[in-house]
Amino acid sequence: MQVDIYLVVFLSILIVQTNGVPRFANYYQDHMVLQRGPQRALVWGYGDANKLTSLRIGDKIYETVSRSKSADGFSEGTWSITLDPVDDEGPYDIQVSQPLTNGTLMTITLHDVLFGDVWLCSGQSNMQMTMRDIFNATEEIANAEKYPKIRVFTNGRTPSSTPVEESIQIIQKWSIASSSSIGGPSWTYFSAVCWLYGRMIHEALGGRPIGLIATSYGGTAIELWMPQDAFLKCYPPS
Ligand SMILES: *[C@@H]1O[C@H](CO)[C@@H](O)[C@H](O)[C@H]1NC(C)=O
Ligand SMILES: *[C@@H]1O[C@H](CO)[C@@H](O)[C@H](O)[C@H]1NC(C)=O
Repeated sequence: MQVDIYLVVFLSILIVQTNGVPRFANYYQDHMVLQRGPQRALVWGYGDANKLTSLRIGDKIYETVSRSKSADGFSEGTWSITLDPVDDEGPYDIQVSQPLTNGTLMTITLHDVLFGDVWLCSGQSNMQMTMRDIFNATEEIANAEKYPKIRVFTNGRTPSSTPVEESIQIIQKWSIASSSSIGGPSWTYFSAVCWLYGRMIHEALGGRPIGLIATSYGGTAIELWMPQDAFLKCYPPS
């Protein structure tokens, strides 16, 4: 019995280490917006541990070695690269290459990435309420076609008592603003407050790219938005 358990553990370690085909973390997608300079955008993903990993954007190449053990809040086999500040809005392709165990160099690419301002829109049902359900919805949704430099992403309702590495549930992948990406089903996408705010900022800043991440959970108590340790400081177990 003891032997069998060790064998299972050994096999699963082997599988993790040989199946490490590189990929971006799941919310890094085509059409996304990364934060422009003077901030430095982080790009990260998964693959094999301890592999030389290179990232190309424009005429710049960055290199790192994927983690051989978990560190800095990232698990084993992840790689992460902090870009120099990018002021040019793009669009860019971002290519990441890593050798596979059989020696083949595998390259993965994010297409049509813009650099602009990224906003997180979060809250309860008043933030979750969608464009389809507001005053003047038909015209406002049709109007979204005029803003291809605004990109939207809707995250699912996925509470967790411990921090998670990637998104647990993506409702709407990074999408170019259009009548279909803004006028999705009621209470699904896209958040009306988030869109109208983002559109106003985009116009006020002379058309700068804007990334909008909507992630709300209607009816939630404020306590549920607190990290567990902060919550316990306010409400110590009696
Ligand atoms: C290495 O593995 C990849 C992914 O399975 C495959 O596409 C590629 O053809 C392999 N290369 C060699 C030289 O076997
Ligand atoms: C309805 O939306 C359109 C497009 O954004 C806008 O031009 C128009 O002023 C809005 N109408 C009203 C009454 O708010």
